[in-house]
Amino acid sequence: MQQLKEFAVNLAQEAGALLMKKFAQSLEIHYKGDINLVTEADKMSENLIIAAIRQNFPDHGILSEESPAILDGSSFRWIIDPLDGTTNYAHGYPVFCVSMALEKEGEIILGVIYDPTRQDTFVAERGEGAYLNGKKLAVSATPDLNRSLLATGFPYDIRESKDNNLNYFAAMAKEVQAIRRAGAAALDIAYIAAGRFDGFWELKLQPWDMAAGCLLVEEAGGKITDIMGSPWNMLSPNILVSNGRIHEPMIAVFKRAAGG
Ligand code: IPD
Ligand code: CA
Ligand code: CA
Repeated sequence: MQQLKEFAVNLAQEAGALLMKKFAQSLEIHYKGDINLVTEADKMSENLIIAAIRQNFPDHGILSEESPAILDGSSFRWIIDPLDGTTNYAHGYPVFCVSMALEKEGEIILGVIYDPTRQDTFVAERGEGAYLNGKKLAVSATPDLNRSLLATGFPYDIRESKDNNLNYFAAMAKEVQAIRRAGAAALDIAYIAAGRFDGFWELKLQPWDMAAGCLLVEEAGGKITDIMGSPWNMLSPNILVSNGRIHEPMIAVFKRAAGG
């Protein structure tokens, strides 16, 4: 396990260094949808990560955002977002990260999120706690919504779909201290583990946005369900992550907004 952890941390940091090198340079950009883009940096980071996994663990499966899944019948699978926060990155807004999780027989056992702009390395190993740059993490102790700093995001189909989070955002904004929409979901979730945010929710995220962050949060004592309070898994249509204390009050706001 130690070897896998060191491998993942080194690789996320290497990919992050590559992203920093390309940051603020002119980039080739392709559009996957009206507002959903991918840059050459996403691909370069992904190529580096996949090549290293293939070389070191040739029998491991890989699910990574910009490439077809590699399923080798192994009980291990890496779940990767080679650049979370691509829109920020493409605009020169320095909020982005690399996210890598390792799943064994369907359970996430290792999560690493690296923010190269701050050189923040978040690491969680199942049963062994969550750490930021070697320091043990715990979720915040904020007791109520009124004092809470939340984070959220909006899906790429915000223009076409009614299920676009604007109703929940409007309802929640009146209940809390503030809500941030920083644009890198993996980092938002890691920040719950670090106690920097008290709660986070989003609709239509993908496994690579959530896998590593969710282990960090579990290991830091936080709570994860869907936004109506049902059990969450990586294929759920939405996610609610919190310090635990404000979980039920957040669900009550979502239920009210959905009903009204
Ligand atoms: C996106 C970011 C964003 C979130 C989107 C994600 P990407 O990931 O995490 O914060 O609102 O739903 O898809 O495209 O930058 O990897
Ligand atoms: Ca992402
Ligand atoms: Ca991405």
